[in-house]
Amino acid sequence: MSSRIAEIRLVSSHREVYEPCDDSFALVDALLADRINLIEHKPKICMEIGCGSGYVITSLILLLKNELPGVHYLATDTNPIAARVTQETLQAHGVEADVICTDIASVLEKRLAGSVDVMVVNPPYVPTPEDEVGMEGIASAWAGGENGRRVIDRMLPVVDVLLSEKGWFYLVTLTSNCPLEICLVMRKKGYASRIVVQRSTDEENLLILKFWRVKDEESLDKETSSESFVSQFSRYLSSFMEKRWR
Ligand SMILES: C[S@@+](CC[C@H](N)C(=O)[O-])C[C@H]1O[C@@H](n2cnc3c(N)ncnc32)[C@H](O)[C@@H]1O
Repeated sequence: MSSRIAEIRLVSSHREVYEPCDDSFALVDALLADRINLIEHKPKICMEIGCGSGYVITSLILLLKNELPGVHYLATDTNPIAARVTQETLQAHGVEADVICTDIASVLEKRLAGSVDVMVVNPPYVPTPEDEVGMEGIASAWAGGENGRRVIDRMLPVVDVLLSEKGWFYLVTLTSNCPLEICLVMRKKGYASRIVVQRSTDEENLLILKFWRVKDEESLDKETSSESFVSQFSRYLSSFMEKRWR
């Protein structure tokens, strides 16, 4: 039986390309946890921004390909070596995607506006000095500037342009990225949100957020009430603080 997600031994690598790490695994776990919903969602176009080694986009393809043949997959990265390594990873798993070397999605924005049904992003989110953001090579994989938000904040409006009416968006964040604020930015654009996966490692407190478009203000209020990000996030913070002080 073929594997449902990418196999690490088949993931290509290069010293200038981000290796799959806890954040990549958490994002793929979130997609795995949402697999049935993704299949019922019947996406036609799925995309990853910042594909690195190709571990995440390859896993997404493998997760959906048997039930949903004919989906178009795209992946972008600013790092040309990452684009090449992603192609190698895809090939090693016998699957296909268009891999484009571009800043966020700039060369695709017009052509794909309003048509991406599933977007996945594990952005450079580590808080760093501002001048480390966008540097060439491996530093661009993690350097996120103040609060780790420099690249994330540039990505959000692009994702909004690209997503279709039924678009879903999965985003990796750290608590230091102020995820509640990210949810409020997206709420203003008409998206509800929830935490799909939360994981605390020695170094970081990861949250995988899922956003989806909501048709009108009333439904947005409903969707963001009981199981809202705010209530989920407060629970998460309390359990995190408890662990810290234990
Ligand atoms: C944290 S790594 C994630 C890699 C891979 N998706 C994973 O989860 O293992 C972030 C990736 O985003 C890419 N990146 C950084 N800034 C970008 C930008 N402005 N546009 C597109 N990709 C970018 C980096 O080169 C890197 O490959």
